[in-house]
Amino acid sequence: MIEHPVKVAELSELEPGAAVVIPPEVSGHSGPIALFNTDGGFRAVEDLCTHLGASLAKSRVEGNEVDCWLHHGRFCLDTGKATKYPAREQLATFPVEVRGTAVWLLP
Ligand code: FES
Repeated sequence: MIEHPVKVAELSELEPGAAVVIPPEVSGHSGPIALFNTDGGFRAVEDLCTHLGASLAKSRVEGNEVDCWLHHGRFCLDTGKATKYPAREQLATFPVEVRGTAVWLLP
């Protein structure tokens, strides 16, 4: 659980289409979080695919969906909803805000 706003990246570190993993010791969440710079803005979801745990930050983003590299299950980055088999369980999503030159995760 994220208890207070946390600065997680500088804008200059995240080019369009890029993603980074935010470790639990930085965010305060129980697991890693993937932060994506998408066409629609920054999105943060749990990094580990709910199918078999592949890192979603290493996966391709198309529009507002991430396509898990391991078995090609898909998730909506806006809602966390699983949109393509074999992904079935929803991902947690996290609010994100740009403040100045940095990206922050919000509680
Ligand atoms: S681990 Fe992501 S779809 Fe299987």
